[in-house]
Amino acid sequence: MIPARVRIVEVGPRDGLQNERAQVPARVKIELIERLAEAGLPAVEATAFVSPKWIPQMADHAEVLAGIRRRPGVSYPVLTPNLKGFEAALAAGATEVAIFGAASEAFSRKNINCSIAESLERFRRVAQAARAAGVKLRGYVSCVLGCPYEGEVRPAQVAAVAGALYDMGCYEISLGDTIGVGTPRRTRAMLEAVSTRVPRERLAGHYHDTYGQALANMYASLEAGVATFDASVAGLGGCPYAAGASGNVATEDVLYMLNGLGIETGVDLARVAEIGRWICGVLGRESTSKAGKALQARRA
Ligand code: HMG
Ligand code: MG
Repeated sequence: MIPARVRIVEVGPRDGLQNERAQVPARVKIELIERLAEAGLPAVEATAFVSPKWIPQMADHAEVLAGIRRRPGVSYPVLTPNLKGFEAALAAGATEVAIFGAASEAFSRKNINCSIAESLERFRRVAQAARAAGVKLRGYVSCVLGCPYEGEVRPAQVAAVAGALYDMGCYEISLGDTIGVGTPRRTRAMLEAVSTRVPRERLAGHYHDTYGQALANMYASLEAGVATFDASVAGLGGCPYAAGASGNVATEDVLYMLNGLGIETGVDLARVAEIGRWICGVLGRESTSKAGKALQARRA
């Protein structure tokens, strides 16, 4: 039985913009986040408190987070790789943070400059600080269906890292197909392994669309009982540490599929498509959302 209701976590302002060449002004990011929340998205990942030397696109994190007019009931998680990031996020008003690990050693090194074991030590300290401050904690695992450096990643390894993050107190573990190489059968096998460590209702799918498989992987996840998915308006983004990776599955495409399945989301597809059109205009790029482009063509 597939879920009757799905929660969509919009990650475009972070996962999308972190990988755009153009430096987007903070006021545009704030407008993007506010408009996405107005369209009904229950969670909009706002920014990342990471090193500006590593990810210059997120250097304005404090200005962006502090500048958002918050809608009641909407959460605005931000990435925090370590205590330094957590403290800066807290000072800027964060009420939800995300720690982000990887199921592949090589990716962990490239992305956050430490081994998986070291990263889990850092995350434990962030988790403790978050608990003490009453801040919600989400967890990510990258490379759950493949790594740009190591190739295949074993489902048992994904389960081990996801389980460690869950045990630290993450209310949800988002499983990232960072480079979008997965297919439905491998997605099913990965979810099977992870659900031995983390309850399915605590899992989220975070699928990049590099090989055009994201919606298919999402459908396989729905069948496996997963009811939360990350998506990016207009399919913005990629990954700075995974050359050639496309952005997340587009929020418009996700909504079109879920609407067709009669699954409730509370999100207005037409409004999200309009936001996608607007932000692509600002960035001077094309949307990768098929539904977004089709809706625009129909409107024209
Ligand atoms: P490091 O260089 O190993 O850290 O970076 P360090 O502790 O040795 O510090 C070095 C310098 O960074 C120092 O500054 C620190 O103050 C500073 P300096 O003395 O040289 O001037 N620093 C920081 N500055 C700001 N915020 C911080 C912070 N920490 C240290 N939090 C670090 C380690 C993790 C910070 C670095 O590797 C980093 O920022 N990496 C960026 C990772 C990133 O943002 N990747 C993209 C997001 S993950 C993703 O996209 C995947 C996901 O979407 C899921 C999926 O698709 O799979 C989530
Ligand atoms: Mg991602």
